[in-house]
Amino acid sequence: MALPQEIRPINSELMDAITQSSDADWIPNPDDPERAFMRVLWTGEESGRWMVHFRWLKGYVAPPHKHLSAAHTYILSGKLKVRGGTFNAGDYVHEANGMVHGATTALEDTEYLFMCDGPVIFFGKDEFTGYLGWEEIRRMQQAHEAAKKKAAVRKRTTSKKRVTARKRTTKKKAA
Ligand SMILES: [Fe+2]
Repeated sequence: MALPQEIRPINSELMDAITQSSDADWIPNPDDPERAFMRVLWTGEESGRWMVHFRWLKGYVAPPHKHLSAAHTYILSGKLKVRGGTFNAGDYVHEANGMVHGATTALEDTEYLFMCDGPVIFFGKDEFTGYLGWEEIRRMQQAHEAAKKKAAVRKRTTSKKRVTARKRTTKKKAA
């Protein structure tokens, strides 16, 4: 039986995006690399949307910000203090485009899914302190991968030097 209307995609290159994040790295957030991390699930260059899995350790304080797009938050575990209230595991929040929010504090080690329709801008008392959108997320991913590669090269070089030094010592002993 044929469908009454053609539904096959016109774009033959259309694809789903799958991120197997269970073994992805936790990328540290530059504003507090000891306590704030994310796993990137998806960034959409056409829509500007992005989806990440945040992990904030107890005590991390995210700075005040304005949403330049709507955002969806779903708390997986932990507890966040926001605007006089708290979000707990299982809570969902829709943050409307244009909202201005004060600092958010992780009261416990907290993990949450965050899907953003576009950018967020952060500010201090008299200045803007940061801007986060899909491009910044990708730049952070690239910087993390580059740092990992550099560290791996350094490790290989160091262990080669150690082996060479050990061989020299062994030769000296034998002589
Ligand atoms: Fe917010």
